[in-house]
Amino acid sequence: MDVSVDQENLVHSVLNHDRMKELKAFDDMKVGVKGLADAGMLKIPKIFVRPPVELAEELNCRHTHIQVPVIDFTGIQRVDRRKEIVGEVRIASEKWGFFQVVNHGIPLSVLEKMIDGIRLFHEQDVEVKKQFYTRDRTRKAIFNSNFDLYQSRTANWRDTLGMILQASDHLDPNELPATCREAVMDYARDVKKLGDTLFELLSEGLGLKPDHLRTMECVNGCNIYGHYYPACPEPKLTLGLTEHSDPGFLTILLQNQINGLQVLYENQWVDVLPIPGGLVVNIGDLLQMISNSKYTSNVHRVIANSVGPRISVASFFGGPVAAPKLYGPIKELISEENPPLYRDVLYNEYAARLYSRGLDEKPVLEYYKL
Ligand code: OGA
Ligand code: NI
Repeated sequence: MDVSVDQENLVHSVLNHDRMKELKAFDDMKVGVKGLADAGMLKIPKIFVRPPVELAEELNCRHTHIQVPVIDFTGIQRVDRRKEIVGEVRIASEKWGFFQVVNHGIPLSVLEKMIDGIRLFHEQDVEVKKQFYTRDRTRKAIFNSNFDLYQSRTANWRDTLGMILQASDHLDPNELPATCREAVMDYARDVKKLGDTLFELLSEGLGLKPDHLRTMECVNGCNIYGHYYPACPEPKLTLGLTEHSDPGFLTILLQNQINGLQVLYENQWVDVLPIPGGLVVNIGDLLQMISNSKYTSNVHRVIANSVGPRISVASFFGGPVAAPKLYGPIKELISEENPPLYRDVLYNEYAARLYSRGLDEKPVLEYYKL
């Protein structure tokens, strides 16, 4: 018998056991990381500390001042300008999978009210907020810290209010928290319209009819996640959000003026600096798949910050929920020179895989590569 391996396994299981206990204790408090920050904690608990290898790698990271493309939608109703915008969106979606949009038509007041609504939710009386704390995915309003708390290796310094608006045309607004109900309803209405426009531009960028992606049900409703990243006492030791690519087809992200979002471009982390009134758009895994990798679902993350809170609102256009639907590379994009890179997958199978894993595990798309 190899004693050293046995001992190592033992140490491992004791450590894991302690970690599970700590995770459970944190989860049971239902106060999120904001609760820890408010308690005046000067050191972050072990469950949030990244492994030494990762922290060492971070020191070798190169930094750069290049910026993701910014696209101005002014004049989009003019045929000539629209053509140019289609080109800009296509190039950004191919090369970066990320871009920022300005003059997109959503009033600044709607954006500001949305950020304020999310702030009000997270900063309200903790006893009221606790009533929304849950991991039950059948609820419409889901407040918790780290949706993958028990699956990931390291917890993130972030709390989230998820609002499941997808496929709920008859959503009862009373299912949303009172603190942000009106802001969310207004923002959701406008962000869906912008999503519709973006899917038209993205369809045209693929050489398809403007309504192609709409007919594939990419636009069907969206789920909105209001993230709250409190100031962190030891920002170098943890992350706000582990590196990942987004599920679904498309994400529109609203951020307040506190930095943190980074996207990986040519092996460097690039800061996606907030532009007042601007929105960040990024391609999700399913759009990479159905575009046969013409568009890129790029890796991004949020670093922790000693100042805060950073507040962001991610609207995920996730696809259909009700009927099982098959997705694969769009036939019009496939030819002898461009063979399919992915096999077809049932949306429900994809979604089930998505929710059973930690954000730091193997990317879901890898399972469907041919
Ligand atoms: C996400 C995401 C970035 C942010 O929710 O998937 O990448 O800035 N959010 O919160
Ligand atoms: Ni993301």
